[in-house]
Amino acid sequence: MSFDIGRVRALYPALSDGSAWLDAAAGTQVPQPVIDAIVAAYSAGIGNTHGAFAASARSDAIVAEARRAVADLVGGDPGGVVLGPNMTTLTYRFAYALSKEWGPGDEIVLSRLDHDANVRPWAQAAERAGARVRWASIEVPSGELPADQYGELVGERTRLVAVTAASNILGTIPEVRRIADLAHAAGALTYVDGVHATPHTPVDMVALGADFYATSAYKWSGPHVGAVVARPDLLERLRPDKLASAPDDVPDRFETGTAPFADLAGVAAAVDHLAGLDPEATGTRRQRLRVSMAAVEAHEQAGLAHLLEGLSSLPGVTLIGSPRRRTATAYFTVDGHTPREVAEHLAARRVNVWDGHCYAWEPALALGIRDRGSAVRAGLVHYNDRSDVDRLLEALTSLPGGRK
Ligand SMILES: Cc1ncc(COP(=O)(O)O)c(C=O)c1O
Repeated sequence: MSFDIGRVRALYPALSDGSAWLDAAAGTQVPQPVIDAIVAAYSAGIGNTHGAFAASARSDAIVAEARRAVADLVGGDPGGVVLGPNMTTLTYRFAYALSKEWGPGDEIVLSRLDHDANVRPWAQAAERAGARVRWASIEVPSGELPADQYGELVGERTRLVAVTAASNILGTIPEVRRIADLAHAAGALTYVDGVHATPHTPVDMVALGADFYATSAYKWSGPHVGAVVARPDLLERLRPDKLASAPDDVPDRFETGTAPFADLAGVAAAVDHLAGLDPEATGTRRQRLRVSMAAVEAHEQAGLAHLLEGLSSLPGVTLIGSPRRRTATAYFTVDGHTPREVAEHLAARRVNVWDGHCYAWEPALALGIRDRGSAVRAGLVHYNDRSDVDRLLEALTSLPGGRK
């Protein structure tokens, strides 16, 4: 396994602006090959799909390649890759489609660890259908999502279990496979939110037990495009609302309107970029992704250890959550300062972090911090190095004291 952080950072034009970019959990920067792929698509000329001329055929090829790339990234079937504007919009679309079959007496299971995009679309669809929502709780203060509780929550009435593959604030990696096994034993489907997990670890949606796996390219060095991946035969069973004139094939049936073709060229380039992060990785793109993402994980976990150690040694800093398995994501408060004040102090020193609930609406409430501005999030991805963490720690030490 090999990972050359200097080589990786040199690929990202934005990183040369002098900032410590610790905001990747809200969206990553884009490497030059992705920018080049988007520029090349526009430069060559973009036509709409399914036309008679060459530029249209190029867009058909771009869409097909984006599906193959996302399938390689998550271990899915290209014929089941639904592309769309972002995870939230796609999840609303799937919630509408799946809930057509729900009614009173049916149940769905949601978790209080999840980002609201894997909560509200389902809760609102259940309400419309007259179905009941059952909630999986998190342990406070650890931020774990115990899998055992699903034995009680899932039953013969359960139609769907929606759960995250990683928390976007605490980094918690729940035991998705155990949860999925319980769901499947009861005949329920699983919808796994992989938006936060995908950039941090090798993904195998089949091994996870995900019937649907959602991800967003802008969290892994790609453009603002989302994807939901499922088995084509499962998609065939669903009838989303769609235009009568639009293709009825799978996965096209789920994709409303005209796609951002140049951005889709960027999606494939982003997956190629991830596959090449370990230059010694060989074989198919899927094989190279496994090796490269394992190298990324090792790199990030080393950075996380430094980050957590540094934050816990700073007086007045409180780390929120202490999950056993976690992505390189830290969530913390500083005595005497609101999260926004901390973020502004850091921004003035060119350290980019996020502050607030980060749309982790249920977790922030469960942790008891939502009504006081929640916390500050600093996260690492493959392009972050030790100096980014040191910049954060250094800037925090210069924060003036005083309790509020
Ligand atoms: C875990 C998680 N799920 C879902 C979303 C929503 O993704 P999108 O912006 O693609 O709708 C985010 C975005 O921050 C996220 O972190």
